[in-house]
Amino acid sequence: MPPHASPSDIPTPKTAFKASDHASDGKTHILLAATGSVATIKIPLILASLSKYSNISIRLVFTTSSLLFLPPLAELLEISNVDGIHLDHHEWPRGLSSNPAEQPRASDIPAQEDDEETAIWAKIGDPILHIELRRWADILVIAPLSANSLAKIVGGFSDNLLLSVIRAWDTNKPLAVAPAMNTLMWDHPVTTSQIRVLETEWRWFRVLRPVEKILACGDSGSGAMKEWSTIVAWVAEEMGLKLEE
Ligand SMILES: Cc1cc2nc3c(=O)[nH]c(=O)nc-3n(C[C@H](O)[C@H](O)[C@H](O)COP(=O)(O)O)c2cc1C
Repeated sequence: MPPHASPSDIPTPKTAFKASDHASDGKTHILLAATGSVATIKIPLILASLSKYSNISIRLVFTTSSLLFLPPLAELLEISNVDGIHLDHHEWPRGLSSNPAEQPRASDIPAQEDDEETAIWAKIGDPILHIELRRWADILVIAPLSANSLAKIVGGFSDNLLLSVIRAWDTNKPLAVAPAMNTLMWDHPVTTSQIRVLETEWRWFRVLRPVEKILACGDSGSGAMKEWSTIVAWVAEEMGLKLEE
């Protein structure tokens, strides 16, 4: 199996991320996120295609489960216009997250001295990463969105960095989700009612609905993430992006 991404690929930065530092860069700020679905393997293709548009800045948020489907994260930072990757442990010091599944394994995190300065919140007035990312972003795209994160969004959960950004989202800005899951998960009535909430009650969500194909698990039917190029085309159209000359 090829090496995959790990939380330790991106240690907690020394200084906090602040939206105001980027407010006048004149770029369209695209926050792209992925969750623990096999379709996350399409993220490098989405980035390579998006990076051909001019005047954009891309930041990435990945759930811990999504890392299994990504190459070492340094490879993504080499793609032009990718300006940052934000992970759960950048907001929560290890050991404090409420969800053990979302904590990086201790062995993934480089040893850190207790007095070493990092961007993690320490006192009133310090920037809070999920709020700064929401301020920074002109659009949020979650491609793919897992059944688990879909359920958590609709339930109002916010126990990781991505869910906190979504929960604190400014509903005047576009937010698109591209669900991707096994056909039986997609056809489950709980999924139907969750999608209905996003589409008919919380109208600030744009659901880029799955398509039918043979899935990675071998099942055939609906649930596959919409074609990555269609997702990129949607973002470009929504944000009025122009290809680099
Ligand atoms: C190999 C593998 C493939 C998976 N594919 C999917 C998928 O396509 N869609 C999905 O909803 N969950 C899938 N899962 C399950 C999710 O990874 C799991 O529910 C996880 O808790 C999602 O966490 P997240 O929503 O925080 O990213 C897969 C799990 C594994 C191990």
